[in-house]
Amino acid sequence: MAIEKLFLSRTFLVGCVILLTQSPAGSAEGAFPGLVLRGLLETLGHPLKVTVMSCWGETDRLEVFKVLNERYLTCFVDDHISRFVEDINDHQTFLVVDLACPGTKQLLKSAGLLLFMKYRWLIVNSKFFVEDHPSEEDQVQFFEQSLADLSLLVSSEIFIFIKQTANNFSVNQIFKHFELAPFKVELFGSWIDGGFKDKRNERVTSVRRLDLQGHTLQASMVVTNQETLQHLTDYKYWYSNWNFSSASPWESLNLHSCHT
Ligand SMILES: *[C@@H]1O[C@H](CO)[C@@H](O)[C@H](O)[C@H]1NC(C)=O
Ligand SMILES: *[C@@H]1O[C@H](CO)[C@@H](O)[C@H](O)[C@H]1NC(C)=O
Repeated sequence: MAIEKLFLSRTFLVGCVILLTQSPAGSAEGAFPGLVLRGLLETLGHPLKVTVMSCWGETDRLEVFKVLNERYLTCFVDDHISRFVEDINDHQTFLVVDLACPGTKQLLKSAGLLLFMKYRWLIVNSKFFVEDHPSEEDQVQFFEQSLADLSLLVSSEIFIFIKQTANNFSVNQIFKHFELAPFKVELFGSWIDGGFKDKRNERVTSVRRLDLQGHTLQASMVVTNQETLQHLTDYKYWYSNWNFSSASPWESLNLHSCHT
């Protein structure tokens, strides 16, 4: 497809400006495991664009940029994001956020439906990447508590990193079977002494939907524009014409500062 070619072209890659200015002191302290992220992306295959929405300082951003830039269009934006502008290719985007940044909780709340549609997410707490990190159980519990009130669904593709030892991480996916269900943590892969190991039982997220553990699905949608039906896979009319009863959270985030 022409659009995919455009994405891979050098011109487009160069067009991504990293916003290195005006960033306050970072919270990752140089410890963000960029190689683990690259291992995850290579295992997933699809995402072409990686956008880090964080409060990290220049050093941390540059480290991640160096690791990812060769293969992925890598952008950095602030964790205080004011608007999300619809982009037809956003389903190719992988978003990285850090719960150690002050704006992240609000950002995740505003993302609403985008937590289970369109984007893949990596949610980390960069405070866990230090030498003296909490136990694995405590890290998982932190994510459970911090993310309990978010709308995660079976279709969510949200990853978390759990630091095990100095150079070992487990990469997990989190989701819920339905809104009030407890949060599930599923092992996706491991980073063991410098290499990514795929630990998935099932390759496709949608397999989860076959086993909803007895929950009855209730869904309805209102299509207000006939053209929507021509665009069920490219998401073009997804937001403007599909009426979910909740508010429109995507208005509060803006990824497009990436392309300016
Ligand atoms: C990482 O995990 C492997 C396998 O469990 C283990 O053999 C190795 O010692 C661990 N490395 C570190 C640095 O803890
Ligand atoms: C969406 O549907 C709800 C419930 O039917 C309705 O109250 C609301 O006005 C609709 N919103 C839009 C933007 O059409």
